Amino acid sequence: MISIETKDCLEFLGEMKDDSIDLVITDPPYNSKIEWDCKQDEWQFQWLSEVKRVMKEGASFYMFFAPMNMYGIEGWIRSNFTLKNIIVWHHANLYGAGMSYGKNRYKSTWDVVFYAVKGAKAKHGKNVATESYLKTGRGFDVMIYPQPRPLVHKAQKPLDLIKKFIICSSNEEDTVLDPFIGSGTTAIACKFLNRNFVGCDINSEFVSIANERLTATDDIELKTIDQPPLP
Ligand SMILES: C[S@@+](CC[C@H](N)C(=O)[O-])C[C@H]1O[C@@H](n2cnc3c(N)ncnc32)[C@H](O)[C@@H]1O
Repeated sequence: MISIETKDCLEFLGEMKDDSIDLVITDPPYNSKIEWDCKQDEWQFQWLSEVKRVMKEGASFYMFFAPMNMYGIEGWIRSNFTLKNIIVWHHANLYGAGMSYGKNRYKSTWDVVFYAVKGAKAKHGKNVATESYLKTGRGFDVMIYPQPRPLVHKAQKPLDLIKKFIICSSNEEDTVLDPFIGSGTTAIACKFLNRNFVGCDINSEFVSIANERLTATDDIELKTIDQPPLP
């Protein structure tokens, strides 16, 4: 079951049951200067608290964020979850990379991905490093994946990276949540990997794009990670 809606995340999450989600993979606004991306920490803590409420004990949590704005979010995650890794998603070709930090700075080529668990121990029962190594040839916390081209959303994330997180941190038939779907990358990965998915985006244009992408995958058989192992 794949279910996506046009809705504000707080309204969407407010309608969800406690302890109903096995895995969260999300990519919220990063608090940059772009209009849809400009959100303060207090707002982030509000939706994060709701996400924690709907997660099952032992559910895993992955959250993309901007390294320069991550301090408060990292503190919240350390206080509310067990932080397992601060992953680096390294990309040399991210749309507008580095521009938002200003002209007199080095160009940024990475985003952070917080990997955490609600409670002390992940309930999916997998060793993520081994699983990642076996399925992708790499189990490291620096993950090198180019941003896809052509882009349908400026903040679009690589499908193979999201698939890696799903494979390593959930089992088939589990339910995955993303309250900021954008172009629907997490939903598409769930469809390929036989996971249930629930999610929303406040922007109906992005939800339409996500639905179109989901429909386009109907004929594609792509069950495994298609990123070749790196040298
Ligand atoms: C970083 S993008 C997600 C991109 C996505 N990972 C992809 O691969 O396409 C964040 C999304 O959050 C959405 N958003 C911003 N504020 C929101 C809110 N209050 N509730 C739900 N979605 C929101 C934006 O419309 C945007 O599409």
